[in-house]
Amino acid sequence: MTQTGSALQAVRAAGEYDVERIRADFPILDLQVNGKPLVFLDNAASSQMPQVVIDRLVQYQTAEHANIHRGVHYLSETATLAYEGARRKVQRFINAKEEREVIYTRGTTDAINLVMQGYGRAFLGEGDEIIVSQLEHHSNIVPWQMLCEEKGTKLRVIPCNDAGELLLDEYAKLFSDRTKFVAITHVSNALGTINPVREMIATAHSHGVPVLVDGAQAVPHMKVDVQDLDCDFYAFSGHKMCGPTGIGILYGKAKLLEKMKPYQGGGDMILSVTFEKTTYNVIPHKFEAGTPPIAAGIGLGATIDYLESIGIDRIAAHEHELLEYATDAFKTLKGVRIVGTAKNKAAVLSFVVQGVHPHDVGTILNEDGVAVRTGHHCAQPVMQRFGIPATARASFYLYNTMQEVDALVAGIRRVQKIFG
Ligand SMILES: Cc1ncc(COP(=O)(O)O)c(C=O)c1O
Repeated sequence: MTQTGSALQAVRAAGEYDVERIRADFPILDLQVNGKPLVFLDNAASSQMPQVVIDRLVQYQTAEHANIHRGVHYLSETATLAYEGARRKVQRFINAKEEREVIYTRGTTDAINLVMQGYGRAFLGEGDEIIVSQLEHHSNIVPWQMLCEEKGTKLRVIPCNDAGELLLDEYAKLFSDRTKFVAITHVSNALGTINPVREMIATAHSHGVPVLVDGAQAVPHMKVDVQDLDCDFYAFSGHKMCGPTGIGILYGKAKLLEKMKPYQGGGDMILSVTFEKTTYNVIPHKFEAGTPPIAAGIGLGATIDYLESIGIDRIAAHEHELLEYATDAFKTLKGVRIVGTAKNKAAVLSFVVQGVHPHDVGTILNEDGVAVRTGHHCAQPVMQRFGIPATARASFYLYNTMQEVDALVAGIRRVQKIFG
């Protein structure tokens, strides 16, 4: 812990991005895989956890654990303070206007389902339309399809061009009197495209339509200000931003959350219960039934402290350099095609190697200790748009290095040699 603390201080004091110092904060990065140093390039799926966050979890479990909100004893109060303190950190991190606009969920998927259940089921009906984009993760498609099945609502899809950029003219044309909701991703997990969500939200609002933004791939990598975006709902996950699994956030504007129905019933989400009538708790608690993932929530608070101590803008700049370096290096590889070439792109490199199935690419890279994801990345409509079943995907984060990009490129050359 002391070492981690001093490493961070050094980064701050030096004012320069010292990736080796940052790497030293992540114990898992010392692993050897198949006798080679681990090169972890699967950050879009789930990122690694720094020692400070691990230490915070251990401290909670060893000296602070009790159920929250209900106790008057020391441990319950300590746990409650830490858990609610983490909520305030999230509020500040995304610049939500009020703490009560920050709802703990199990992750992005859970957050989107909450909005579908609490808002969609209450306010959308037969013939109403929901706009989603061609770049969505399944978790921002399937819940809305479930609503369509139940209510007779319809999905309208914003198409994208060959670079993987949404066609904003087409988006504008999708609006009609029937449009009642927009659900779009901030950053595509499969292609890395950064969508102009601020502009897209303004378009929706000019038609009086609320917007949910799936920020799973944005919050870990760039400054997100929900008030500046003016989004109505914003969802993200802890485990993609160096935090624990099992925790995520739904931000929602208070006036919308207040008129929504609770997603689940149970303890903590009520003010009073009789067999005749139950009154619900105020927001955010109305949406947080049962014992929550307390440790994970507190861990998320520590994660935010960690990311802020480095600076999210500096992390973004580092990732951008990695993306440019990797994109240039890939241009030297014959027979390798990058899928997703948007001008405004996050550090995600999806690619196909001519004549080799992406799973074989991933398997051979793993022999070199290089971890990439292969498959459809829970974005099958994106794969269909590009006429491919799958890609291999390298996704970078704050601790990745140029040398790791070199290892990836060398691994791909080896794949090509084997399949030569
Ligand atoms: C863009 C996007 N949305 C949603 C999700 C789902 O996140 P979770 O599995 O944490 O709920 C992911 C996960 O990969 C994602 O990349």
